Amino acid sequence: MTYYDKNALKLSHEYIKANLKKGDIAVDGTMGRGRDTLLLSQLVGSSGKVFAFDIQKEALSSTQVLLEENAITNAQLILDSHHNLKNYVEDAKCVVFNFGFLPGGDHTIFSHSDTSIKAIEAALDIIPSDGFVSICSYYGGDTGFEERDNLLAFLEKLDSKKYTVMLHSFYNRPNCPPLFIVIEKNH
Ligand SMILES: C[S@@+](CC[C@H](N)C(=O)[O-])C[C@H]1O[C@@H](n2cnc3c(N)ncnc32)[C@H](O)[C@@H]1O
Repeated sequence: MTYYDKNALKLSHEYIKANLKKGDIAVDGTMGRGRDTLLLSQLVGSSGKVFAFDIQKEALSSTQVLLEENAITNAQLILDSHHNLKNYVEDAKCVVFNFGFLPGGDHTIFSHSDTSIKAIEAALDIIPSDGFVSICSYYGGDTGFEERDNLLAFLEKLDSKKYTVMLHSFYNRPNCPPLFIVIEKNH
């Protein structure tokens, strides 16, 4: 495998494809235009289920169209903040976050560390011992650095006996290259 032709999103998709299987339950914590929801829905298949969250109606309508175009019927789209995910989902093999703003949408509406960290804590509560949380963190520009900085400080303190945190950074790329982070619950 090589990295020069990759980015955070591609790495996250490769990781998810390697670790999610038919029949699993998966959560997309940041639905956006639905590309991750679509991938998760295809991977878990008709015997599985996907719960997808966003706070913007525009995200739900875009995702609905994408899922219909791909004949996907195993996804539930929820207009609520991801930090409330336990109100809807009791357990899931994985929870996927793609923090930032809606692509092609309003750049002043983006995820913030207070709710993002609560959402990660909720995600860690509902995944099993071989479950994982996948995070792409977009930062800089309109989004700023507050979320990334608080997120990294939080992740650094997660108990290493319980969790393994992998941080992937395209370290020498310009213009705030997004991070790909995986949290695995140790077996
Ligand atoms: C980078 S986009 C996600 C991209 C998406 N995964 C896709 O495939 O298009 C981030 C999304 O997070 C959403 N968001 C921001 N804060 C949120 C929150 N508290 N709960 C749920 N979604 C949130 C934004 O509305 C935006 O659509």
